[in-house]
Amino acid sequence: MTEEITPSQTALFSAAARAAHPIVDQQPHLLRDEPAAQLCKLVTPSPLDFQLGQPEVGVLAAARLSACARSRYADASLSETRVDQVVVIGAGLDTTAFRLPSALDAKVWLIDRPGVLAWRTQLFDRAGLPDTTRHIAADLAEGFDVRLLGRAGVDLHRPVFVVWLGVSMYLHPADCRTFLGYLSELAAGSRLIFDYHLAPEFRDQPGAEYAKAVAAMAGHQGEPWQCSSTPEEMGKWLAEHDWQLQEDVDESSSVPEGFFANQEHLQPMKLVRLVQVMR
Ligand SMILES: C[S@@+](CC[C@H](N)C(=O)[O-])C[C@H]1O[C@@H](n2cnc3c(N)ncnc32)[C@H](O)[C@@H]1O
Repeated sequence: MTEEITPSQTALFSAAARAAHPIVDQQPHLLRDEPAAQLCKLVTPSPLDFQLGQPEVGVLAAARLSACARSRYADASLSETRVDQVVVIGAGLDTTAFRLPSALDAKVWLIDRPGVLAWRTQLFDRAGLPDTTRHIAADLAEGFDVRLLGRAGVDLHRPVFVVWLGVSMYLHPADCRTFLGYLSELAAGSRLIFDYHLAPEFRDQPGAEYAKAVAAMAGHQGEPWQCSSTPEEMGKWLAEHDWQLQEDVDESSSVPEGFFANQEHLQPMKLVRLVQVMR
């Protein structure tokens, strides 16, 4: 594995979306992410400046909704759990560790490609932000062995809380399906929070337009969206690995009731599904 520094543009866009939301969108805010703002300010040109300068642009507004709704969804589940081993997969510039419930006293491990983790470390150092997380370098496209977690200090005899957000769509569908199997080796009581994209025929117009705009951008930067599924098909993928489905909901219905009525730029879209499953 290479030690070189490889920025992830999609991770940076997600961080900028989280940082911008409380500044440019109306209350109630889904999330506040000051560390993300500090990280984005170190990058030139900063996608945070795009977000702040043109909050009305559809692709930027939709990115804010998705990035904040999914992190809020994971935070809410974390606030209800007693599982104190948290593993964030495809972490990028994830800042979950800054928002952990104080009563939980959890340890956090992050998984991403080695160059992305090196980039993250460099940005955190430059921002003077403490990064209490432990890093595990892995390319999910090359498979995944949960024993990697054990070697990094995760107690595999106890439940693990896995956050896998904003990642499944970047994998080949076969890799995505197989990955659910790798994770099924975790101990009973483990929980997995993830998101996936609806198959094209299930999207509404705002969802289809966002997918088209991002596909052009992310694909051009070497991180194309590849995997989508119907809820029925996803249910089968999960069942074949004995995951117990707790919830599979539209991103737009995960936000507080009445949320969109106050929003100037954010609108509901049918594209992203948020899922919670258990062992
Ligand atoms: C859109 S970002 C999401 C970051 C973060 N999870 C969030 O919700 O803001 C996608 C992340 O997935 C990571 N990723 C994509 N494909 C991957 C792979 N094959 N192996 C490991 N990480 C991958 C990227 O490096 C990037 O950090």
